Amino acid sequence: MLFGRVLAKRPEKSLLLTGLRGVGKTVLLNEIERIAAGQGFRTILVEAHEGKPLAVLLAPHLRRVLFDLDRLKGAGNKVRRGLGVLRSFIGGIKIKVGDLDFGLDIEAEPGSADSGDLEVDLPNLFVAVGEAAQERGVAVAILIDEIQYFSAEELSALIMAMHKMQQRQLPLVLVGAGLPILPGLAGESKSYAERLFSFPAVGPLPQADAEQALQDPVRAEGAAFEPEALREIFRLTQGYPYFLQEWGYQAWNRAEASPIGASVLHETNDVVLQRLDENFFRVRFDRLTPREKTYLRAMAELGQGPCRTGDIADKLGVRITTLGPVRASLIKKGMVYSPSHGEMAFTVPLFDAFMRRVMPNFEP
Ligand SMILES: Nc1ncnc2c1ncn2[C@@H]1O[C@H](COP(=O)(O)OP(=O)(O)OP(=O)(O)O)[C@@H](O)[C@H]1O
Ligand SMILES: [Mg+2]
Repeated sequence: MLFGRVLAKRPEKSLLLTGLRGVGKTVLLNEIERIAAGQGFRTILVEAHEGKPLAVLLAPHLRRVLFDLDRLKGAGNKVRRGLGVLRSFIGGIKIKVGDLDFGLDIEAEPGSADSGDLEVDLPNLFVAVGEAAQERGVAVAILIDEIQYFSAEELSALIMAMHKMQQRQLPLVLVGAGLPILPGLAGESKSYAERLFSFPAVGPLPQADAEQALQDPVRAEGAAFEPEALREIFRLTQGYPYFLQEWGYQAWNRAEASPIGASVLHETNDVVLQRLDENFFRVRFDRLTPREKTYLRAMAELGQGPCRTGDIADKLGVRITTLGPVRASLIKKGMVYSPSHGEMAFTVPLFDAFMRRVMPNFEP
């Protein structure tokens, strides 16, 4: 609910929710969208994909919002101008957006957002959309999941665009979610980002919250977990929401009587791990090349991390400079990230233990 207040009172400050896989970023983002829409924001909720340009992702949604604004009563020509600028923006990007119908009476506005340089064009487009919203007395919230898939140029363009929103006090906010990106930003983008955004870290649940997340739904069914069972699930899951769900689900299925004790967990442990290995972990593992697997297996030797890139090279018995490409491709696939210079960490919680299970013998 904190986010509702943030959206309501400080529309100029945007949010980037960052955290590891399965911690609840997407759930939060959807909830934020619900709150924003409830407060009258026009919302755009999209998910970035590897290889899908930001411009292509946003253009159809911005068009929809502008058409919505066009239907609101109000004087002024800012909405029509917004549509013209969007049309010019689409003309300016080299990639095909697909056929977006603007109707016959909307002409592209040449020179407004079609330079072909995203870091110039996107801010100009956001200004046009922000001014249109302002003219009609509404606010726009753009929510983007999986932001780590954007290129450095796209992120920088987004940051520049939000900088313009703040300078001109326009009613357009951005809420992003994804793997930690801040360490990967460089120079000016980074210092702007630090000023324009708050970066709430979404992490594992603290023990009390984790226990409540398990106990409440069971209580609602008239049953209960024993305190010892709750402690054991917390130990096994380390409070990661996705794992809490899996262990909670299996324990519930397996239990024959209430209260549910810790012994049930020992019976379900293998089933849960097998399910996780076959689904949650496996889909990620299967996308890796042999070299990438070996790199991650070496990381797993060093535990949950973060670990030093030099130590990974030592484990592999190679020079650190030879590992640049494999590290880059693992970052691109969202398997690892760099929490600080010279360090690597898994993006998937408990992935180190999975790597040791799936590749029991480490051979560099
Ligand atoms: N606060 C919470 N309490 C209990 N369960 C939660 C909570 N937040 C999320 N979950 C559950 O955890 C799972 C993972 O959540 P979600 O998909 O939002 O994670 P994510 O951070 O977006 O992960 P990814 O990086 O893989 O996209 C979901 O099944 C969700 O229902
Ligand atoms: Mg998600």
